[in-house]
Amino acid sequence: MNPEVLKATAQAMVADGKGVLAADESTGTIKKRLDSINTESTEDNRRTYRDMLFTTPGMEDAISSVILFEETLFQSSVGGKPFPELLSGKGVIPGIKVDKGAKPLAGAPGETVTEGLDGLRERLAEYRKAGARFAKWRAVITIGDGIPSDYCIGANAHALARYAALCQEADIVPIVEPEVLMDGDNTIERCEEVTTNVLNQVFARLSHQGVLLEGMLLKPNMVISGKGCSVQADIQTVAEATVRTLKRCVPGAVPGIVFLSGGQSDDVATAHLDAMNKLGPLPWKLSFSYGRALQAAALQAWGGVDANLDAGRAAFAHRAKCNKAAALGQYSADMEQAA
Ligand code: 13P
Repeated sequence: MNPEVLKATAQAMVADGKGVLAADESTGTIKKRLDSINTESTEDNRRTYRDMLFTTPGMEDAISSVILFEETLFQSSVGGKPFPELLSGKGVIPGIKVDKGAKPLAGAPGETVTEGLDGLRERLAEYRKAGARFAKWRAVITIGDGIPSDYCIGANAHALARYAALCQEADIVPIVEPEVLMDGDNTIERCEEVTTNVLNQVFARLSHQGVLLEGMLLKPNMVISGKGCSVQADIQTVAEATVRTLKRCVPGAVPGIVFLSGGQSDDVATAHLDAMNKLGPLPWKLSFSYGRALQAAALQAWGGVDANLDAGRAAFAHRAKCNKAAALGQYSADMEQAA
């Protein structure tokens, strides 16, 4: 483990006004996205789609790094260059999703634990050789009747810390992602309570397993009302609750916090990030690691049609620019109209 390499990579990923593009949809998830535009999920179509995003002119002004699925890490772009090389050539850092997904947790109905630790040391060595400089592991926590259990939170926190320690051993920066889902009908107060518990347990395990906080990034959910809750907290309330929770739970040694979008609409995800940064100064960089909120407009504009590749790039460039502004606390709704 080289702490200086880890720190430098983590800091570059959250350089001023920059964030992460999550383009690491698993085979099942990318199929759902392509189904939504009536496009078959072939290896070639997945290549074309991701190539469109990564060849967007000026993307690198807002996007420091891209999370890839394993297929893409070892795939060549439309122009024939391996994707990691195409990205590095633009000064964008390639990374890799390494977990094997959330699986039912034994003895805990309705809850999951994320798998993928077996053989991870060997896989990380291969990924680094292929150009990956950071990784992602997503734990999933569901709010419901009597859940999450402490057992579920503990099992996921333990696995996240084991993953993070293995990454750092291989000089790969771990993105630690404990996602409290926003799909329930819970209040924002309940989300704050659960998120607090989850983050406390995650940082206890990270410390116990000797993870270097300066050489990792946290990828949390925002503290937000469940989708099915009849009272939806407004932008300012979400920003204040999220920053309050993070200040209580996340040590200042962590260089950056990069949020997932989790099903928020594009402009709301951007507005939330902007409102949080306007509450600064903060102990860490607050930026984005959005999947859907960076890609949804581009996917629609492309629609699986070659003639629309530039329209897809333009839609992605717009969201990237808005989120760059939000990462600096300089976004305003006028930016959407200007597009
Ligand atoms: P969303 O922003 O679509 O939630 O995806 C981010 C991600 O990488 C989830 O693991």
